[in-house]
Amino acid sequence: MAVGVIVSTGGGKQHPGKMTPFVFLTCLVASSGGLIFGYDIGISGGVTSMDSFLSRFFPSVYKQQMADSSTNQYCKFDSLLLTLFTSSLYVAALLSSFLASTAVPVYLSEMAPAFLRGTLNIGFQLMITVGILAANLINYGTASIKGGWGWRVSLGLAAVPALIITIGSLVLPDTPNSLIERGHDEEAKAMLSKIRGTEDIRAEYDDLVAASDEAKSVHHPWSNILQRKYRPQLTMAILIPCFQQLTGINVIMFYAPVLFKTIGFGSEASLASAVITGTVIVLGTFVSIATVDKLGRRALFLQGGTQMLISQLVVGTLIALKFGISGAATDVSKNYASIIVLFICFFVAAFAWSWGPLGWLVPSEIFPLEIRSAGQSINVSVNMFFTFFIAQVFLTALCHLKFGLFYVFAGILFYRFLAPPSPTIMTAFIAFFLPETKSVPIEEMVLVWRKHWFWSKFISDEDVHVGNPEAADDRFKDA
Ligand code: BGC
Repeated sequence: MAVGVIVSTGGGKQHPGKMTPFVFLTCLVASSGGLIFGYDIGISGGVTSMDSFLSRFFPSVYKQQMADSSTNQYCKFDSLLLTLFTSSLYVAALLSSFLASTAVPVYLSEMAPAFLRGTLNIGFQLMITVGILAANLINYGTASIKGGWGWRVSLGLAAVPALIITIGSLVLPDTPNSLIERGHDEEAKAMLSKIRGTEDIRAEYDDLVAASDEAKSVHHPWSNILQRKYRPQLTMAILIPCFQQLTGINVIMFYAPVLFKTIGFGSEASLASAVITGTVIVLGTFVSIATVDKLGRRALFLQGGTQMLISQLVVGTLIALKFGISGAATDVSKNYASIIVLFICFFVAAFAWSWGPLGWLVPSEIFPLEIRSAGQSINVSVNMFFTFFIAQVFLTALCHLKFGLFYVFAGILFYRFLAPPSPTIMTAFIAFFLPETKSVPIEEMVLVWRKHWFWSKFISDEDVHVGNPEAADDRFKDA
């Protein structure tokens, strides 16, 4: 299992380290925090498409969706209360993110050696997707339970991932950064040596101590993060999660069964289609795990954004052709519906290897220690706010904007609406403003911004307290 390498960031300082079984297992256990997040995302859509659940808790929606297919299909599930059932969870998550900063992605990035940070961090996203797929499979199974109480099993099984993370959090060790910050220097050295699989940890340890000293001089991280020198990180902490959610991915994750029912699938076929998208998202995440530390973050962002854009436009057009403005379903053949599902899968796959995992990885690796928890709180709360927003408005928006809703999402992905091959807003943003962060030790990330064509204006030489700026010029000249 252990693979020895010397990490080179392109000249200058090198941090020795290898993938040890200990760091692998630790990251695996920590990643399981994603399971409950994923399970919650995947479970509500399936439950709200079950007749027994709808007739009991949302009788008016139940009546509406039992109406025949010549009525407006776009509005079948339009109910404020129904969407609140899904979205309210993310308001709770938003509030708690100010206390917990959502610890998992940062924990993973601090534990992982720089050259494998992407792979290990994406374990979190992998667990999110496994949670979503598990929820989809469970809904598929429980929907057929006679007596109509299957939804109780679906909701009750959320206790399983909750138990896993509770046990996991009891056995996880502290990161070296956290130990140094709390004054446990010898334990920090021992932990660093254990997770890197080498005694030769001097250079990395010195960087961590320098970062910790810098952090101690900052007493108000929440106001400090507004300083000019942190503008690049603050911008990323706000825009990356915002764009991630505005891709529209959660329309599919939350409402896939409802959406498939809207376009003419029966109950069982809708749940089965959600299992298909759930499987695609898990498989797609492996693509990211395998390539993120080789191809880098930017290549995945750019390719994924473009593929999502094309898929959205095709889905919107196929729905427009069949349902038009009236929303009355005529004859949606099996083949036609399968082509829609196919393009939804292209979209989901692209998200799975780009904006999904990178939306957590990049913000977790760019903050210097002194503003890391404030920065991560902002990242998570923006993510949760937009998750809530999409969950809350989608079904109403679908009712009013009809197929045009898919063009709205595509428009966000697009730079100039309907003018291919223009870059997308998100993709253009990444292309111009996000430097490559692959293999750069977190404590040296400031050097990446300092060398960037735009962000360098915000960072002066006095703001750079790590590394050797001359060597850094060589190391980060491609960023
Ligand atoms: C996003 C979630 C999304 C999930 C889908 C995560 O990265 O934050 O909102 O549902 O990916 O896999």
